[in-house]
Amino acid sequence: MKRVVVDHFGGPEVVRVVEEDDPRAGSGQVRVRVLASGVSLSDAQMRAGTYLGGPKPPFTPGYELVGVVDELGPGCSRLHEGDRVGALTQWGANAERVCVPETYAVEIPEDLDPAAVVSLVFTYMTAYQMLHRAAQANSGETVLVHGAAGRVGTAVLELAALAGLHVYGTASARDRAAVERHGAVAIDYRNEDFLARLRELTGDGVDIALDPFGGAVSLRSFRALRPGGRLVIYGRQNTLAHGHKNWPAVIEWYAGTATVAFWALLSPRRRVLVYRIQKLRIHHQDWFREDFGALLELLRADKIHPVVAERLPLTEARRAHELLECSAATGKLVLVP
Ligand SMILES: NC(=O)c1ccc[n+]([C@@H]2O[C@H](COP(=O)([O-])OP(=O)(O)OC[C@H]3O[C@@H](n4cnc5c(N)ncnc54)[C@H](OP(=O)(O)O)[C@@H]3O)[C@@H](O)[C@H]2O)c1
Repeated sequence: MKRVVVDHFGGPEVVRVVEEDDPRAGSGQVRVRVLASGVSLSDAQMRAGTYLGGPKPPFTPGYELVGVVDELGPGCSRLHEGDRVGALTQWGANAERVCVPETYAVEIPEDLDPAAVVSLVFTYMTAYQMLHRAAQANSGETVLVHGAAGRVGTAVLELAALAGLHVYGTASARDRAAVERHGAVAIDYRNEDFLARLRELTGDGVDIALDPFGGAVSLRSFRALRPGGRLVIYGRQNTLAHGHKNWPAVIEWYAGTATVAFWALLSPRRRVLVYRIQKLRIHHQDWFREDFGALLELLRADKIHPVVAERLPLTEARRAHELLECSAATGKLVLVP
């Protein structure tokens, strides 16, 4: 089978494909014949070595997959060969066959497009859980979303509109229409001071801020909160610059994020929460299943519309990594073995 490998940290050029024997399902694992797996900014961060808690090379990237169970390891009792499943692997999904713990595989109806469902497993799940599990959003509240035209950002826009939230989204001017299409107010982060603009628009700030940057940006996101507000930090996006690790941004991330945590201690009416999808999945497997079920229902009801930017063969994994930075507003990059 073919498998994508990163054998040292670096830019897209370190991504290659190897051929090897199929893996065998171990105890409690099912082997999945992959129909679609994702390539995301988190994979690029792992590839460049900026992902907190990421793997050491050599490793196979790929945060999420959809496929068909084709072998059951000892001790598996829930799933059967031929079942279609999705799984959040964190890394390892970009291969033709992947073994995953049976407990982490969620069932998927066969009539749905695997490439569209891949977006639910990671991107839409992140957006959904940040709104409903971390921030516990209430209808009518206001939300600031950074990177609103990105993949997670767009999922937030769709889900927030369904939840009756009023959204302000930072994005480049060229993506204004994409943000406004979902009923959000766009703030041009390259030419406007988002904090000043937000205060102008809202008066006293927002109830929820979703921040994939941390560091210095999160200090400003925190200041955008009104009393009772919740800041959800869910990434360190600036630590990756032009495909490579940005050391000054790593240092700035630790300094800024520690400062915002300290501010939160001094300001009990505003909270800072950290969201990490894999941590929540470990501690609340039941939430993962429940939330995935909710997302499947929304997809079936045509209420959410995950966009697939490109379906590339596994052998073009490197090209998918090259495309990551210039394709955020056009949707998910999916590898199709
Ligand atoms: N914690 C978790 O469990 C979790 C789960 C999923 C994702 N994440 C993190 O979420 C982040 C976003 O992922 P993604 O897949 O949505 O990435 P993406 O699709 O590449 O989107 C990133 C977006 O951020 C925008 N952006 C860049 N600099 C900005 C700035 N200073 N202000 C506002 N927007 C800016 C980009 O717009 P331009 O093109 O105009 O620059 C782009 O639209 C990543 O850091 C990822 O690691 C975390």
